[in-house]
Amino acid sequence: MINDKKIIVAIDGFSSCGKSTMAKRLAAEKGYIYVDTGAMYRAVALFAMQNGWMNETEINTAELEKHIGTIKLYFRKNADGKAEIYLNDENVENKIRSLEVANGASRVSTLGFVRRELVRQQQVMGAEKGIVMDGRDITTVVFPNAELKIFVTASSQIRALRRTKELEEKGEKVSFREVLANIEERDYRDTHRSESPLVQVADAFVIDNSDLTPEEQQQKLNLLFESITKGL
Ligand code: DC
Repeated sequence: MINDKKIIVAIDGFSSCGKSTMAKRLAAEKGYIYVDTGAMYRAVALFAMQNGWMNETEINTAELEKHIGTIKLYFRKNADGKAEIYLNDENVENKIRSLEVANGASRVSTLGFVRRELVRQQQVMGAEKGIVMDGRDITTVVFPNAELKIFVTASSQIRALRRTKELEEKGEKVSFREVLANIEERDYRDTHRSESPLVQVADAFVIDNSDLTPEEQQQKLNLLFESITKGL
């Protein structure tokens, strides 16, 4: 018998560890919605930068907080079926993928008022279930009652190698050392901030993909999904 009861799949993990690739694939295979919450924090950083409220050292938190309620974020599929993020009706999918915005995202994500607004929007997106969401606080804060919780990890060296390649392919000039330093800095900030730090919850399944191919990783995730939905 086919079981069509929808669940919430909550995926947390370090940056650049391939969470989104496997989350996206699972969502596509199961007809679920996929939400990349990192893209939402990146879009908030871009919003702050575009308005001159953030530079390399400072954030004008008063202005950002005043305008946080005016930020409209949504995802739309492009012609290839890939979900892209819109910030106040502008497609910012490419703009948010730079190292500069990644760093900015890591900084705005430490602000309580930013987190509260984005968590609220994410909970609305998942109200009907049938969703795969990835980020840093999905298993802990956004959907602590998700039916399937995953914690993804890989060594920082491996992640930096993969990320350097990805950025080079996009034409960004970066060095491995720079990317590694950026990843380690973000890991530290993500796990040590006072607002919703990245933690591994006791009931999350851990996938360490340092030595896994994308296919092996996908297989693990799909097996976990099947084992959870089978029992519903
Ligand atoms: O996954 P990513 O690299 O696109 O995320 C960008 C930043 O946003 C990252 O430094 C951590 C932060 N983030 C967060 O604090 N909470 C989330 N749910 C998702 C991302």
